[in-house]
Amino acid sequence: MSTQAASDALVFFGMTGDLAYKKIFPALQALVRRGRLDVPVIGVAKSEHSVDQLIERARASVTEHGGGVDADAFPKLARLLRYVPGEYSDPGTYTLLAKELAGAKRPLHYLAIPPSMFATVVRNLAASGCTSNARVVVEKPFGRDLESARALNTTLREAFAEDSIFRIDHYLGKEAVQNIIYFRFANSFLEPLWNRDHVESVQITMSESFGVAGRGRFYEETGVIRDVIQNHLLQVVSYLAMEAPSSTWQEALRDEQAKVLRNVRALSADDLVLGQFRGYRDEPGVAKSSTVPTYAALRLFIDSWRWHGVPFYVRAGKCMRTTTTEVIVDLKHPPPVVFNERVRDGNYVRLRLSPNIAIALGARTKRPGEGMSGVPVELSIADYPAQGSGGRMEPYERLLGDAMTGDATLFARQDVVEAAWSIVDPVLRNAVEPLRYECGSAGPDVANELVRQVGGWRCGE
Ligand code: BG6
Repeated sequence: MSTQAASDALVFFGMTGDLAYKKIFPALQALVRRGRLDVPVIGVAKSEHSVDQLIERARASVTEHGGGVDADAFPKLARLLRYVPGEYSDPGTYTLLAKELAGAKRPLHYLAIPPSMFATVVRNLAASGCTSNARVVVEKPFGRDLESARALNTTLREAFAEDSIFRIDHYLGKEAVQNIIYFRFANSFLEPLWNRDHVESVQITMSESFGVAGRGRFYEETGVIRDVIQNHLLQVVSYLAMEAPSSTWQEALRDEQAKVLRNVRALSADDLVLGQFRGYRDEPGVAKSSTVPTYAALRLFIDSWRWHGVPFYVRAGKCMRTTTTEVIVDLKHPPPVVFNERVRDGNYVRLRLSPNIAIALGARTKRPGEGMSGVPVELSIADYPAQGSGGRMEPYERLLGDAMTGDATLFARQDVVEAAWSIVDPVLRNAVEPLRYECGSAGPDVANELVRQVGGWRCGE
């Protein structure tokens, strides 16, 4: 069978969970609406539900999170839904599943379950014959560090080939993240500037004004580096810094990601500031003496020909002043020999990933009137809402649709995952007391020291 044959059944472990409610049912309705989903969708979950209850949950989900019930697509989705109740550790569950799958030649198994259950589910799937010719989709976290990521991969590889494993990092499905690659390689004016000769520094900020939103127990196991830096933000770094992938080789994009991440120097404690928002320790599920960081600012270096000596600053935090994710590629400033201006504003490329998608160029222009002084201006190239109509796809719709057709381009390949773990691994083991910061602030002041030599943080403010 061709490796690209479309999957003819979608099996969903964890269909009564939170992720399904917030993201997956809306994605399924959207896929049906676009004519990309027309195969049985089989939910497997522990709780005692009936298929009718599942349909009602799907209806509530698309009402709350999917832009409403689509009069045409929702009834079609409801007809595709099936339900297999049972414990994940009970072989009987898989006998029922195999019966439900009868006739399916290339099922896709989506594991939206805690990683601790992966091995049990994968082994039972294999023992019941459900993995033959099958694909599997797994949710992050892909391990807790390099070693456990490798162990997790070994478990998955017992039953699935690498090209049948789809590791979801929803950032890779975001319109704005796709646009980083498009904008970089569709505009010839950018390439001559995109290197150590012209770029002073690159800054990436992911700030969220909310806290851990009831996920204290999960966050205690994770912390900011594992939650968003090792995956989402290092994927963004790879798209910003990679060499041009050739379109003639299907794996070219992921090859380039792997190459650039392998060249990122392992993080040292001197290049890292960790913080924890005040009040985190009072969250349900959080230890009173927790040292789990909810904020991190780091300085990375890429030992490549293109980027040698250019610092990449990355910071992410919960309970910050704003909810914004943004990249600033700061260009070197002209020498002050014509106009004696020693300002640092202007001369940058801004890529905003959320809440709106925007691309802008920062420049300086003369202030009208006497004298030769200037003001910073921004040339807006694109600016539109990150969510909404206009044919836009939510990440889960894009990624699930791709997995169903076997297109792994926008999924995290194992070598990319391992390269990303290798960058942060050295600092994960140090139990450092994070600095406290106030909710609604920009994080610990000490993080400003990290960027002092480039004039401070300039994105996500
Ligand atoms: C998730 C993290 O992977 O990404 C969350 O677990 C984070 O902590 C979220 O808030 C951010 O994604 P988005 O798409 O909502 O910006």
